Amino acid sequence: MGTTNSAAAVMEAGRPVVIPSAEGPTVAGKMFPSVVAFTADGQLLVGEPAKRQATANPERTIFEIKRKMGTDYKVFIDGKSFTPQQISAFILQKIKKDAETFLGTPVKKAVITVPAHFNDNQRQATKDAGEIAGLEVVRIINEPTAACLAYGLDKADKEMKILVFSFGGGTHDVTIMDFGGGVFQVLATSGDTKTGGADIDNALMQYIISEYKTQTGIDLSTDKMAMMRLKEAAEKAKIELSNVVTTDIDLPFIAMKNNSPMHLHMTITRAKLEELALPIVQRIEEPIRKVLADAKLEPKDIDKIILIGGQTRMPLVRKFIEDLLGKPAERGVDPMECVAIGAAIQGAVLTGEVKDLLLLMYTVITWSRNSRRNIYQNNREKHNHTHQKKPDFHNCCRLSNNCYHTCPTR
Ligand SMILES: Nc1ncnc2c1ncn2[C@@H]1O[C@H](COP(=O)(O)OP(=O)(O)OP(=O)(O)O)[C@@H](O)[C@H]1O
Ligand SMILES: [Mg+2]
Repeated sequence: MGTTNSAAAVMEAGRPVVIPSAEGPTVAGKMFPSVVAFTADGQLLVGEPAKRQATANPERTIFEIKRKMGTDYKVFIDGKSFTPQQISAFILQKIKKDAETFLGTPVKKAVITVPAHFNDNQRQATKDAGEIAGLEVVRIINEPTAACLAYGLDKADKEMKILVFSFGGGTHDVTIMDFGGGVFQVLATSGDTKTGGADIDNALMQYIISEYKTQTGIDLSTDKMAMMRLKEAAEKAKIELSNVVTTDIDLPFIAMKNNSPMHLHMTITRAKLEELALPIVQRIEEPIRKVLADAKLEPKDIDKIILIGGQTRMPLVRKFIEDLLGKPAERGVDPMECVAIGAAIQGAVLTGEVKDLLLLMYTVITWSRNSRRNIYQNNREKHNHTHQKKPDFHNCCRLSNNCYHTCPTR
């Protein structure tokens, strides 16, 4: 369950398969937007159809509900109030339905992933959302841990330090984990919940607006409908430029001038996009440096770099991280699919289909910004102490018998 997109995967014949969304693939892949909408005529829309009608129905369209998980926030529609859990449950119900259509059998249990920095309340809310959707949530696992499973890192017989960098639509975060003896342990996590891929779309949009104004004298920024079309076109161009070096933006009938329709046609190069995106991409340096400092590690101590989230498909992002850490990031699993794939593998571990994976998770939080509750100093001594003593479990830890998640003391 991402802030921007959600996806699910299932183990079929020993291999993880990403479940296609019923509406078909989008420009970003099989996942679907984490958007819920209530139409004026009483329909509930989830995913692509909800996103598509957002401009015409902004008050009844809910984006980014993940940001509100674990809070008292409420969504009010026609005098009825919904908790973030209930809104998230609509997304999970769609996943359940799509999975059942895909598999042809009922789906009753699920493994759900959450960011490593999620606190007790946020984890509990996620679990509640699953239950409202009619799923038994057999395990909540950290997104970076899921990604490591997708890469098969749990099979390694040597100890490793893994840096997992996630860059999604609205956030970026970085987690350093220690792996050894079948156990993934979070050493430190940091990030910025305000910078994501949408900022790059926005930078490209602003560039197009200013170019178009120079060419035609028309200011598109005052036209809501034109802005909506531009936003979509900018994201599409950005995604295409991860694979090709030049792309065209074509928006016919974008405006009117002297009673004549005006069209927008522009060629965007990868170089131009990279120039516009660089100041945003540079913001990922600070959390990476912070997390290294918190874990008391140097870039050379990192054995594996794992990238997750759609925005890490951008070649500039990959290069920036590789240059910063001085080593190549892992390849072979799609960054936008790897978290869902890892959750499916964890599911298969729980059903006994995949063996030899212990997966204890000790979460030590050093979330740097935008988090009021979870400021917790990384302390290896305490860590080891916890390890030996017997962890002081909170409610969220009792998600299953052998998953332990120790939370910061409150
Ligand atoms: N091929 C691509 N190249 C560049 N960016 C891409 C590509 N595919 C997807 N994206 C971008 O990735 C972002 C969505 O990523 P993802 O679905 O992983 O986010 P999320 O997990 O929902 O959000 P968050 O991590 O912020 O909670 C969007 O900004 C999208 O434009
Ligand atoms: Mg994400």
